[in-house]
Amino acid sequence: MVSVNTVCFDFGSGVCSNSQEIATMSRAQLSAQSLGTYYAKDLLAKTQGKDPVNCILALYDSKEGRSNYIGEAISQREHGAQAARAALEDGADEDTIIAALLHDVGHLITQAPQMQGNLGTRDHEGLGAWFLRTLGFPEKTCALVERHVEAKRYLTWKMPEYYARLSDASKGTLAQQGGPMTTSEGEAFEKDPLYKTIIAMRTYDERAKVVDMPDLKPIEAYAEMMRRCLRRKAIRDMYDRDGYVLLKDALSPEAKKLFVQWADEIQAWDASVKGKWMIYYENVNGQETLCRTENILPYHDGMRRLLCEDEVKRIVDELLGEESALFKEKINYKLPGGGGFPPHREFSNHCGPKLDPLN
Ligand SMILES: [Fe+2]
Ligand SMILES: [Fe+2]
Repeated sequence: MVSVNTVCFDFGSGVCSNSQEIATMSRAQLSAQSLGTYYAKDLLAKTQGKDPVNCILALYDSKEGRSNYIGEAISQREHGAQAARAALEDGADEDTIIAALLHDVGHLITQAPQMQGNLGTRDHEGLGAWFLRTLGFPEKTCALVERHVEAKRYLTWKMPEYYARLSDASKGTLAQQGGPMTTSEGEAFEKDPLYKTIIAMRTYDERAKVVDMPDLKPIEAYAEMMRRCLRRKAIRDMYDRDGYVLLKDALSPEAKKLFVQWADEIQAWDASVKGKWMIYYENVNGQETLCRTENILPYHDGMRRLLCEDEVKRIVDELLGEESALFKEKINYKLPGGGGFPPHREFSNHCGPKLDPLN
């Protein structure tokens, strides 16, 4: 049983397991990322047992977060917030908006090796993705952070004139990130399922270098969105591990109150109305007793929003790995003396006995 309000994260599992072994290896034996993860150990130790969102916010509130984004006259905080705004305005999903917000978080792990020419943390994309995975962010967010530099490598291969438009700092980092893609790399990249989103991330990154952007929401304004992303990932992991998801206190106290109020409203709907909702009865000691209402959502805005637009839908989308669609909805009642709804399986009801492997 897991309460979504108190999801527990095991920060220890992603950290280099054997620092002694790492310490005795030569630097040449280690990739930038494994060195980075080694150097980020202190940072992770500080986050252990703490709320991951507060850890991220503290990082962006630090000297590094408030200092200049490499080669640009804005801070890392502003750069992330501007990229997230661009993603939001583009209608991106929450995992992508958070990826835009945190795409350069690797640059804030300044204990890690730096690129030549004061161009920030080496392999900041890999290190940032590793850090976010360790904190429990969704795989899509981490993959977009990990791969955001691929867009620059791709565009400079696809459009050589794109290179001329890059800032000096950007040209410098490109050289240290592998330079333009080769033809085979570029062609493979175009077939990648994340291709379009990674290119979109590049446009958000480019639009995020405005000095004193008016009405810019700070990083802190995305705290709740980050929490939702973390919660969905935790639910996904729970489902993969246990085969079911049990959400305790998934609704806020206000939402719970409304839910009960709405159920009471629906229970009182007029049974004589035809062609809209469907009301069913059971026989209790010779009396017709209400037992179920179906086809509710077209006639109840609050319930429809809760189940089909807000957090419930996001959780279901996350579990399915694609956009969900409502199959059917109903409220079952157990009034005094009523039978209630006995344990049952939906599968054979809706998919037919031939498809049910247990029938
Ligand atoms: Fe970057
Ligand atoms: Fe960036």
